Amino acid sequence: MKLEQRYEGKAKRVYATENPREYVVEYKDDATAFNGVKRAQIRGKGEINNAITAHLFPLLEGAGVPTHFIERLSEREQRVRAVEIIPVEVIVRNVAAGSFSKRLGVEEGTELRRPVVEYCYKSDALGDPLINTDTAVALGWASEEDLTRIRELALRVRDFLTPYFAARGIRLIDFKLEFGKTQGGRVVLADEISPDTCRFWDAETNEKLDKDRFRRDLGGVEDAYAEMLRRVTQPT
Ligand code: C5P
Repeated sequence: MKLEQRYEGKAKRVYATENPREYVVEYKDDATAFNGVKRAQIRGKGEINNAITAHLFPLLEGAGVPTHFIERLSEREQRVRAVEIIPVEVIVRNVAAGSFSKRLGVEEGTELRRPVVEYCYKSDALGDPLINTDTAVALGWASEEDLTRIRELALRVRDFLTPYFAARGIRLIDFKLEFGKTQGGRVVLADEISPDTCRFWDAETNEKLDKDRFRRDLGGVEDAYAEMLRRVTQPT
């Protein structure tokens, strides 16, 4: 099934398959933070992030967000549509935290009056710098139409996930999305949605249940990921 490796990122590997329109994605336990300066393995992370993404992407499809996801193949692998990743990371924020709080001097946990969509250039070498959509068009990373669609889909993801997590006792603080283009030129949601790429706070205690436990040396990283898998798959 898996042929040659096409790409290796910090948390996943992507393989070609016999079908030129499909890839296999393999989730790793490797974790990095601060642009690769801090590295470790989080035991069970690959399986958990695969399971969480495989649970959420079909739900998002049902909510009108086309995705690259086809099916979960094994504990660490999923079959996806082959896409070319648009090198623009899309961050959606409900509540101030992380780099937003630092950059603007806004206390973490401050509710935002409306969701904020931010864009970064996907570049490890440059540390994913903040950009605006003019920059992405000017440098040929995406068209104006693609970016309009990406923003619409990112907000649709937010409108679906925020109440989905709230019903499971989780505040969705912010998250990062990546989009790709199929061979037919369609923009689809790609990459993953997991505690690596979202901030999740317990609705009662505000306990962090995401990668900030690793970034900030809070301990209990594995338990937090396992708890998020439990909450995500919990029926309401
Ligand atoms: O660090 P920052 O506050 O900009 O992160 C915003 C959100 O995007 C967080 O949920 C974080 O986990 C996610 N993120 C990511 N990959 C990056 C940068 C941020 O998944 N390269």
